[in-house]
Amino acid sequence: MAPQPFTIAIDGPAAAGKGTLSRAVAEHFGFAHLDTGLLYRAVGAKVLLGMEPQTAAETLSPSDLENDGLRSPEVAQSASRIAVIPSVRAALLDFQRSFARRAGGAVLDGRDIGTVICPQAEAKLFVTASAEVRAMRRYKELSAHGATDSYEKVLADVKERDARDRDRSTAPLKPADDAVVIDTSDMSIDAAVAAAIEVVKARRSG
Ligand code: DC
Repeated sequence: MAPQPFTIAIDGPAAAGKGTLSRAVAEHFGFAHLDTGLLYRAVGAKVLLGMEPQTAAETLSPSDLENDGLRSPEVAQSASRIAVIPSVRAALLDFQRSFARRAGGAVLDGRDIGTVICPQAEAKLFVTASAEVRAMRRYKELSAHGATDSYEKVLADVKERDARDRDRSTAPLKPADDAVVIDTSDMSIDAAVAAAIEVVKARRSG
């Protein structure tokens, strides 16, 4: 018999450590992992090249996700801008929902997984940290890759994206009522991973 679906929803603002945490949790439980931000980034990148947002979302293909340029700050802002458009979000819904319910378990990280994509997820986490801590982490990551943006610019970008992601009317960034909040401001990544694994274990045995 195929293993039952089990969905772990991991939401939170930009640069909160969702990606690292989600990959570690998925590996621990042997689950598949989907970084849903990458879908919005891939649409954002196509829009920067001149495509209309809804068409870009409707014609998205797996090869669009294999693009190193998707990690750039320009693409992140474009992703956040197109993410406010309801028809773009609708075009990406089915893919995310079927990924979430695949046999064997899935971890999805994003902004609206526990609230909109998968309200029935068996485990929900909301991973956050102060804007300053998130900006410093992102600044170090970008600098390590040779970017020259100042810390102040990265902080302004993080705050701008937070405001847009939080204040949009369709699927705004917010913790689901039944999500466990993990604030990683003063936590090592190992401690955050351990905390997340405990939450999931409790839901699996519950
Ligand atoms: O997680 P990320 O930084 O790669 O996401 C980029 C943008 O995509 C983010 O600012 C808002 C949007 N997004 C979204 O609206 N819903 C999701 N589930 C994931 C990302």
